[in-house]
Amino acid sequence: MLHLNYTNILKKSIGSRHGIGDKFLVNFCDKKKSFVKDALRNKKKIGYDFLNLPDDNALLRKIKKLTADHSKNNWQNIVVLGIGGSSLGVSAIKRALLGPLVKKPSLIVIDNIDPDYVNGILSKINISKSLFVVISKSGTTTEPMVLYGIVKQKLIEKHPKNYQKNFIFITDPKKGLLRKIGKKEGVTMFDIPPKVGGRFSVLSSAGLVPVALAGVDVGGLLKGGRTMREAIKSSNPETNPALILAAIQFLSDKKKGKNMTVVMPYSSSLFKVGAWYRQLLSESIGKNIKTGPTPIAALGTTDQHSQLQLYNDGPNNKLIVFLRVLKHASDPQLSDILPKEIGFLNGKKLSQIIDASYTGTSESLAKNSRPNVTIEIPKVDARHLGMLFMLFEFQIALLGMLYKVDAFNQPGVEEGKLITKKLLS
Ligand code: PA5
Repeated sequence: MLHLNYTNILKKSIGSRHGIGDKFLVNFCDKKKSFVKDALRNKKKIGYDFLNLPDDNALLRKIKKLTADHSKNNWQNIVVLGIGGSSLGVSAIKRALLGPLVKKPSLIVIDNIDPDYVNGILSKINISKSLFVVISKSGTTTEPMVLYGIVKQKLIEKHPKNYQKNFIFITDPKKGLLRKIGKKEGVTMFDIPPKVGGRFSVLSSAGLVPVALAGVDVGGLLKGGRTMREAIKSSNPETNPALILAAIQFLSDKKKGKNMTVVMPYSSSLFKVGAWYRQLLSESIGKNIKTGPTPIAALGTTDQHSQLQLYNDGPNNKLIVFLRVLKHASDPQLSDILPKEIGFLNGKKLSQIIDASYTGTSESLAKNSRPNVTIEIPKVDARHLGMLFMLFEFQIALLGMLYKVDAFNQPGVEEGKLITKKLLS
């Protein structure tokens, strides 16, 4: 299970100007405990349906069949064409569970329409030997539709009769253009449940299908999501990680002026979870002119040498959320190889060094009255990643209730989409 350590936001650790009293926090969570029940009761309502995703065994069976059917195609690449909630989850899973280097089939995410970027990828891969997974909840977003068009053109040049077999579409079961095209052209399709919002869809077909095709244990992701949902459901307010995290973020912003949230994993594998969370927080809570902490994605130890100066010595307006991995899959160790000036590093494992760096950073921040919390993750695998996704999604749903905003719409994004459409029409 994940563990939330929030000692370094408490008054007793960082002082009363920036810290929150532990009794105050417990009482606040107790007063708001009905929000957890409300969220669970809303399971069938628009937005909250993400809570049901871990129970979708029918989807797991369908994915199993798909991966078996596709194994004979020997795809060189699985290429996702999507944006926002339809790509960030895949990128986070890819980085966490498939590692930084290319595997076969490699999983590529095209989430921009920058001409050089798109061409840089499409001109270097064998598109006949690539499976393109077009993901769009609405089935009308400009970027995935444009990318679909570009790829379709290229495929038709090569295989005018059966280009469809290089596509899978993942979209709303009824609405949208992508659904319409898929039906007409006989493309294999997967549904995103209508009441699940894009940025809450990582544990739906949108997050699971492409990564399953690249070899990820998607059953483990769902199992982790289920475990976390049940833990949140059954725990007391003062031990409920989603409620405590939401309360800390809300109180730190409203009472202590911490209007930015930094997510800083001490794990390269989890870096893209920060990018995924950035969308989740921005689009869900950034509402009504005055609401919404600004999210920042950082990486330990890399950003100790880039952003830490600002966090530790600049304006005290940030809450820092560390992700700390307790056990790494591999752990190279230094022999007696370094000169005596830095001989204290000899014999150390990389895990010891990165963990000491995390401890040094969090303690120095606390010493300077900079609030920080740590989510401890036993190891980076499918199950724990599923737990982390569910924890953050639940926390954001609760945060929406605390700020009294609709966490599931994004009017600010829609407006820009409409203007762009007008310009191009
Ligand atoms: O959270 C959301 O709903 C949005 O950010 C979407 O994920 C993003 O705009 C992409 O939309 P779609 O999946 O409909 O193409």
